[in-house]
Amino acid sequence: MLILGIDTSCDDTAASVVEDGTKIISNIVSSQNEIHRKYGGIVPELASRRHIEMIWPAVDEALTKVGVGFNDISAIAVCYGPGLIGSLLVGVCFAKSLAYVNKIPLVAVNHLEGHIFSSFLEEPIPEFPFAALVVSGGHTSLYRVDGFGMYTELGRTRDDAAGEAFDKVAKLLGLGYPGGPFIDALSKKGNSGAIFFPRPFIHNSFDFSFSGLKTAVLTYTKKNPRSKKEDIAASFQSAAVDVLIEKTVEAAKTEGINKIVLAGGVSANRTLREMIKKRAQEEKIKVYLLSPHLCTDNAAMIASAGFYHFKERKVADLDLNPKAYLPLGATK
Ligand code: KG4
Ligand code: ZN
Repeated sequence: MLILGIDTSCDDTAASVVEDGTKIISNIVSSQNEIHRKYGGIVPELASRRHIEMIWPAVDEALTKVGVGFNDISAIAVCYGPGLIGSLLVGVCFAKSLAYVNKIPLVAVNHLEGHIFSSFLEEPIPEFPFAALVVSGGHTSLYRVDGFGMYTELGRTRDDAAGEAFDKVAKLLGLGYPGGPFIDALSKKGNSGAIFFPRPFIHNSFDFSFSGLKTAVLTYTKKNPRSKKEDIAASFQSAAVDVLIEKTVEAAKTEGINKIVLAGGVSANRTLREMIKKRAQEEKIKVYLLSPHLCTDNAAMIASAGFYHFKERKVADLDLNPKAYLPLGATK
């Protein structure tokens, strides 16, 4: 069964064809980094305008490149939130039109659910139950996943997302955009023990907070203008990664779960990947890490989650509307 996935939730126009929820047939991501780079962050109006230009070329490429026509598609899965409302609107309207014109069922997918399902696109596929850390530019949330559609939110950020902190610290240090990969690369040349930045642990909770850490880096750089950028990057990254790992491992242990899935753009971070593998091994927990192109936003993950919705006949109506705020699952 072939599902066409579409995601325009943020600044990437993504379209993909996935077979049976697990096999990627095509995966097209048209990045807008060039547009937003000069502003050091995403400009929502520019993002939605670019989506309008790129949605048809992206979908067309995802289909024609692999010789798939609309007749071969069983359902169209579209991300309808959370995200930037103007960006989401483009993908949802486009998917609805395609579904209507071609008489193909429409499936609505939560972006966060998509990130969790990116782990179904690579071997080994995690078995339920598992803990999932979705850590990106817009989200930092921890879930208990007991099965398809069975999500419990164990914690979330109370302020900035981890990726947002990476991007803001990178901007502060005059590095490129998006900042995460630049901090990742620069950190390799720095000393992570050079500066001690506070580890923002919220006690008795699996919630996160990154705005204080970001402010600590800002204050430090103002007071120490000659400090090496490499050391600041490495020390900041070490603080952020420590918190992400400790909270995730503790949450899994508390829930009695021995599997952890890492998803979202920040899970491409090399230090986070190396350190969580070590830490989890000590606790006899298995960690599932994705290829970097499946960590960041893509539509294959939407098609994968969409396949399971479709199998359960959870189809959407053509009056589907996007939602900027769309929590996933129950809270604890
Ligand atoms: O999942 P994603 O593509 O989009 C959202 O849903 O937000 O994540 C983008 C975020 C950005 O903040 C970017 O800086 C961060 O992921 N990121 C990284 C790395 N690669 C991307 N952060 C740290 N280290 C990386 N290697
Ligand atoms: Zn995302």
